[in-house]
Amino acid sequence: MKTNHFLPILHLDETDSTNNYLSRLIAEKTVEEGTAVSAEIQTAGRGQRGNTWIAQRGKNLLFSMVLYPHFVPVAKQFVISQCAALAVSDILAEYTPDIKIKWPNDIYWRNQKICGMLIENNLQTDSINHSIIGIGINVNQADFDESVATRPTSLFRILGKEQNRTEILRKVVSRLLQYYEDVRMGKDTDIAEKYKRDLFTTGIFKDTTGVFEAVIKDVAPTGILTLTDNEGNDRQYAFKEVEYVIQ
Ligand code: BTN
Repeated sequence: MKTNHFLPILHLDETDSTNNYLSRLIAEKTVEEGTAVSAEIQTAGRGQRGNTWIAQRGKNLLFSMVLYPHFVPVAKQFVISQCAALAVSDILAEYTPDIKIKWPNDIYWRNQKICGMLIENNLQTDSINHSIIGIGINVNQADFDESVATRPTSLFRILGKEQNRTEILRKVVSRLLQYYEDVRMGKDTDIAEKYKRDLFTTGIFKDTTGVFEAVIKDVAPTGILTLTDNEGNDRQYAFKEVEYVIQ
Protein backbone atom coordinates (compact mmCIF):
# COMPACT_ATOMS: atom_id res chain seq x y z
CA MET A 1 0.00 0.00 0.00
CA LYS A 2 1.21 3.50 -0.80
CA THR A 3 2.38 5.65 2.05
CA ASN A 4 1.61 9.28 2.61
CA HIS A 5 5.13 10.28 1.62
CA PHE A 6 5.04 8.74 -1.79
CA LEU A 7 1.79 9.73 -3.43
CA PRO A 8 2.12 10.12 -7.19
CA ILE A 9 0.47 13.52 -7.66
CA LEU A 10 1.01 15.52 -10.83
CA HIS A 11 0.32 19.26 -10.68
CA LEU A 12 -0.76 21.15 -13.79
CA ASP A 13 -1.35 24.84 -14.18
CA GLU A 14 -4.17 24.50 -16.71
CA THR A 15 -5.97 21.72 -18.54
CA ASP A 16 -9.36 21.19 -20.15
CA SER A 17 -10.48 18.72 -17.48
CA THR A 18 -8.32 16.61 -15.16
CA ASN A 19 -10.56 13.62 -15.99
CA ASN A 20 -9.84 14.13 -19.70
CA TYR A 21 -6.12 14.66 -19.06
CA LEU A 22 -5.82 11.44 -17.08
CA SER A 23 -7.84 9.52 -19.62
CA ARG A 24 -5.49 10.69 -22.42
CA LEU A 25 -2.45 9.82 -20.28
CA ILE A 26 -3.74 6.27 -19.73
CA ALA A 27 -4.27 5.87 -23.47
CA GLU A 28 -0.68 6.99 -24.14
CA LYS A 29 1.32 5.13 -21.52
CA THR A 30 1.30 3.01 -18.40
CA VAL A 31 0.11 5.09 -15.46
CA GLU A 32 0.70 3.84 -11.94
CA GLU A 33 -2.43 3.01 -9.96
CA GLY A 34 -3.29 5.82 -7.53
CA THR A 35 -1.77 8.52 -9.73
CA ALA A 36 -3.58 11.81 -9.27
CA VAL A 37 -3.56 14.88 -11.51
CA SER A 38 -4.56 18.26 -10.14
CA ALA A 39 -4.95 21.59 -11.91
CA GLU A 40 -5.13 25.23 -10.91
CA ILE A 41 -7.83 25.80 -13.49
CA GLN A 42 -9.89 23.77 -15.96
CA THR A 43 -11.05 25.29 -19.21
CA ALA A 44 -13.73 22.63 -19.73
CA GLY A 45 -14.40 21.22 -16.25
CA ARG A 46 -17.11 18.59 -16.41
CA GLY A 47 -19.86 17.87 -13.89
CA GLN A 48 -22.56 15.23 -13.59
CA ARG A 49 -25.45 15.08 -16.05
CA GLY A 50 -23.36 16.81 -18.75
CA ASN A 51 -23.06 19.99 -16.67
CA THR A 52 -19.94 22.13 -16.58
CA TRP A 53 -17.90 22.53 -13.40
CA ILE A 54 -16.76 26.11 -12.99
CA ALA A 55 -14.15 27.05 -10.40
CA GLN A 56 -11.95 30.12 -10.01
CA ARG A 57 -8.25 29.78 -10.84
CA GLY A 58 -5.99 28.73 -7.98
CA LYS A 59 -8.68 28.69 -5.31
CA ASN A 60 -10.02 25.15 -5.19
CA LEU A 61 -9.04 21.53 -5.57
CA LEU A 62 -9.64 20.11 -9.03
CA PHE A 63 -8.15 16.67 -9.40
CA SER A 64 -8.60 13.16 -10.72
CA MET A 65 -7.18 9.84 -9.63
CA VAL A 66 -6.89 6.57 -11.54
CA LEU A 67 -7.59 3.12 -10.11
CA TYR A 68 -7.57 -0.27 -11.81
CA PRO A 69 -10.19 -2.20 -9.81
CA HIS A 70 -10.13 -5.34 -11.97
CA PHE A 71 -11.23 -7.30 -8.91
CA VAL A 72 -14.49 -5.34 -8.59
CA PRO A 73 -17.41 -6.89 -10.51
CA VAL A 74 -19.38 -4.42 -12.66
CA ALA A 75 -22.48 -5.03 -10.51
CA LYS A 76 -20.55 -3.75 -7.48
CA GLN A 77 -18.91 -0.73 -9.09
CA PHE A 78 -20.74 1.63 -6.76
CA VAL A 79 -18.22 0.71 -4.04
CA ILE A 80 -15.67 2.92 -5.83
CA SER A 81 -18.07 5.87 -5.57
CA GLN A 82 -18.58 5.08 -1.92
CA CYS A 83 -14.81 5.08 -1.27
CA ALA A 84 -14.43 8.47 -2.94
CA ALA A 85 -17.40 10.00 -1.12
CA LEU A 86 -16.21 8.67 2.23
CA ALA A 87 -12.62 9.83 1.68
CA VAL A 88 -13.72 13.40 0.99
CA SER A 89 -16.35 13.50 3.73
CA ASP A 90 -13.89 12.08 6.32
CA ILE A 91 -11.27 14.69 5.48
CA LEU A 92 -13.66 17.65 5.26
CA ALA A 93 -15.11 16.56 8.61
CA GLU A 94 -11.63 17.17 10.09
CA TYR A 95 -12.12 20.85 9.16
CA THR A 96 -15.77 21.42 10.01
CA PRO A 97 -18.78 19.62 11.50
CA ASP A 98 -22.04 19.13 9.51
CA ILE A 99 -20.46 17.38 6.51
CA LYS A 100 -22.76 14.82 4.84
CA ILE A 101 -22.89 12.79 1.63
CA LYS A 102 -25.76 13.35 -0.76
CA TRP A 103 -26.47 10.27 -2.87
CA PRO A 104 -24.70 9.29 -4.94
CA ASN A 105 -21.52 11.25 -4.21
CA ASP A 106 -21.99 14.94 -3.63
CA ILE A 107 -20.61 16.32 -0.39
CA TYR A 108 -22.62 18.92 1.46
CA TRP A 109 -22.06 21.22 4.40
CA ARG A 110 -25.54 21.66 5.88
CA ASN A 111 -27.65 22.36 2.77
CA GLN A 112 -24.81 23.74 0.66
CA LYS A 113 -22.65 21.83 -1.80
CA ILE A 114 -18.92 21.85 -1.08
CA CYS A 115 -17.73 19.05 -3.36
CA GLY A 116 -18.82 17.29 -6.53
CA MET A 117 -17.45 14.14 -8.15
CA LEU A 118 -17.43 12.73 -11.63
CA ILE A 119 -16.51 9.06 -11.57
CA GLU A 120 -15.95 7.49 -14.96
CA ASN A 121 -15.62 3.72 -14.98
CA ASN A 122 -14.21 2.04 -18.06
CA LEU A 123 -15.85 -1.39 -18.09
CA GLN A 124 -14.70 -4.75 -19.42
CA THR A 125 -17.22 -7.55 -19.87
CA ASP A 126 -17.72 -8.23 -16.18
CA SER A 127 -15.22 -6.04 -14.34
CA ILE A 128 -13.85 -2.51 -14.22
CA ASN A 129 -10.85 -1.87 -16.44
CA HIS A 130 -10.06 1.52 -14.99
CA SER A 131 -11.82 4.09 -12.93
CA ILE A 132 -11.15 7.82 -13.17
CA ILE A 133 -12.31 9.59 -10.04
CA GLY A 134 -12.67 13.33 -10.63
CA ILE A 135 -13.12 15.46 -7.53
CA GLY A 136 -13.81 19.17 -7.21
CA ILE A 137 -13.62 20.57 -3.67
CA ASN A 138 -14.39 24.21 -3.00
CA VAL A 139 -11.58 25.28 -0.69
CA ASN A 140 -10.64 28.96 -0.82
CA GLN A 141 -13.16 30.42 -3.25
CA ALA A 142 -15.13 33.23 -1.62
CA ASP A 143 -17.63 34.21 -4.30
CA PHE A 144 -20.05 31.92 -6.08
CA ASP A 145 -22.94 32.36 -8.45
CA GLU A 146 -25.65 32.62 -5.81
CA SER A 147 -28.36 31.60 -8.27
CA VAL A 148 -27.04 28.02 -8.51
CA ALA A 149 -29.61 25.60 -7.04
CA THR A 150 -27.04 23.55 -5.09
CA ARG A 151 -25.98 26.68 -3.14
CA PRO A 152 -22.21 26.26 -3.42
CA THR A 153 -19.98 26.91 -0.44
CA SER A 154 -16.31 26.47 0.42
CA LEU A 155 -14.13 25.85 3.47
CA PHE A 156 -13.18 29.54 3.26
CA ARG A 157 -16.84 30.58 3.51
CA ILE A 158 -17.43 28.21 6.41
CA LEU A 159 -14.25 28.85 8.39
CA GLY A 160 -13.48 32.44 7.43
CA LYS A 161 -9.85 31.77 6.52
CA GLU A 162 -7.84 30.21 3.71
CA GLN A 163 -6.85 26.56 3.96
CA ASN A 164 -3.83 24.69 2.62
CA ARG A 165 -5.03 23.02 -0.58
CA THR A 166 -2.03 20.71 -0.95
CA GLU A 167 -2.54 19.33 2.53
CA ILE A 168 -6.21 18.58 1.83
CA LEU A 169 -5.35 17.01 -1.52
CA ARG A 170 -2.74 14.68 0.01
CA LYS A 171 -5.09 13.70 2.84
CA VAL A 172 -7.98 12.90 0.47
CA VAL A 173 -5.79 10.90 -1.92
CA SER A 174 -4.28 8.98 0.96
CA ARG A 175 -7.69 8.25 2.55
CA LEU A 176 -9.14 7.16 -0.77
CA LEU A 177 -6.29 4.68 -1.21
CA GLN A 178 -6.96 3.35 2.30
CA TYR A 179 -10.63 2.74 1.49
CA TYR A 180 -9.58 1.17 -1.79
CA GLU A 181 -7.34 -1.25 0.10
CA ASP A 182 -10.35 -2.09 2.28
CA VAL A 183 -12.27 -3.00 -0.88
CA ARG A 184 -9.38 -5.21 -1.97
CA MET A 185 -9.55 -6.91 1.44
CA GLY A 186 -13.25 -7.64 0.88
CA LYS A 187 -14.56 -5.09 3.39
CA ASP A 188 -17.32 -3.84 1.06
CA THR A 189 -19.99 -4.28 3.72
CA ASP A 190 -18.15 -2.07 6.22
CA ILE A 191 -17.76 0.59 3.55
CA ALA A 192 -21.45 0.39 2.61
CA GLU A 193 -22.46 0.69 6.28
CA LYS A 194 -20.24 3.74 6.85
CA TYR A 195 -21.51 5.29 3.62
CA LYS A 196 -25.10 4.91 4.82
CA ARG A 197 -24.23 6.44 8.20
CA ASP A 198 -22.71 9.50 6.52
CA LEU A 199 -25.58 9.96 4.06
CA PHE A 200 -28.37 12.54 4.18
CA THR A 201 -31.29 10.18 4.58
CA THR A 202 -34.29 12.48 4.38
CA GLY A 203 -35.24 15.00 1.78
CA ILE A 204 -37.36 16.17 -1.08
CA PHE A 205 -36.80 14.21 -4.28
CA LYS A 206 -37.85 14.65 -7.88
CA ASP A 207 -38.52 11.92 -10.43
CA THR A 208 -40.40 11.89 -13.73
CA THR A 209 -43.71 11.89 -11.84
CA GLY A 210 -42.92 14.99 -9.79
CA VAL A 211 -41.64 16.11 -6.41
CA PHE A 212 -42.12 14.07 -3.22
CA GLU A 213 -40.77 13.74 0.31
CA ALA A 214 -38.95 10.51 1.18
CA VAL A 215 -36.43 8.73 3.38
CA ILE A 216 -33.54 6.69 1.99
CA LYS A 217 -34.19 3.07 2.95
CA ASP A 218 -31.23 1.43 1.23
CA VAL A 219 -28.41 1.86 -1.25
CA ALA A 220 -27.56 -1.42 -3.01
CA PRO A 221 -23.98 -2.34 -4.10
CA THR A 222 -25.11 -1.47 -7.63
CA GLY A 223 -25.92 2.07 -6.44
CA ILE A 224 -29.68 1.45 -6.80
CA LEU A 225 -31.47 3.69 -4.33
CA THR A 226 -34.57 2.60 -2.45
CA LEU A 227 -36.68 5.44 -1.10
CA THR A 228 -39.71 5.19 1.15
CA ASP A 229 -42.08 8.02 0.37
CA ASN A 230 -44.32 9.55 3.02
CA GLU A 231 -47.22 7.32 1.99
CA GLY A 232 -45.07 4.32 2.95
CA ASN A 233 -44.37 3.18 -0.63
CA ASP A 234 -40.89 1.99 -1.61
CA ARG A 235 -39.53 3.43 -4.85
CA GLN A 236 -36.33 2.25 -6.56
CA TYR A 237 -34.06 4.31 -8.76
CA ALA A 238 -30.85 3.98 -10.73
CA PHE A 239 -28.49 6.94 -11.21
CA LYS A 240 -30.03 9.95 -12.87
CA GLU A 241 -33.59 8.61 -12.43
CA VAL A 242 -34.13 10.70 -9.33
CA GLU A 243 -32.54 13.79 -7.83
CA TYR A 244 -32.57 15.65 -4.58
CA VAL A 245 -34.40 18.94 -4.55
CA ILE A 246 -32.34 21.20 -2.35
CA GLN A 247 -34.38 22.91 0.35
C1 BTN B 1 -20.69 17.48 -10.16
O1 BTN B 1 -21.04 17.63 -8.99
O2 BTN B 1 -21.43 17.84 -11.10
C2 BTN B 1 -19.37 16.82 -10.45
C3 BTN B 1 -18.25 17.80 -10.50
C4 BTN B 1 -16.90 17.15 -10.73
C5 BTN B 1 -15.82 18.19 -10.90
C6 BTN B 1 -14.43 17.59 -10.91
S1 BTN B 1 -13.19 18.83 -10.90
C7 BTN B 1 -11.97 17.67 -11.28
C8 BTN B 1 -12.57 16.69 -12.26
N1 BTN B 1 -12.41 17.15 -13.61
C9 BTN B 1 -13.58 17.44 -14.20
O3 BTN B 1 -13.71 17.88 -15.36
N2 BTN B 1 -14.58 17.20 -13.34
C10 BTN B 1 -14.11 16.68 -12.09
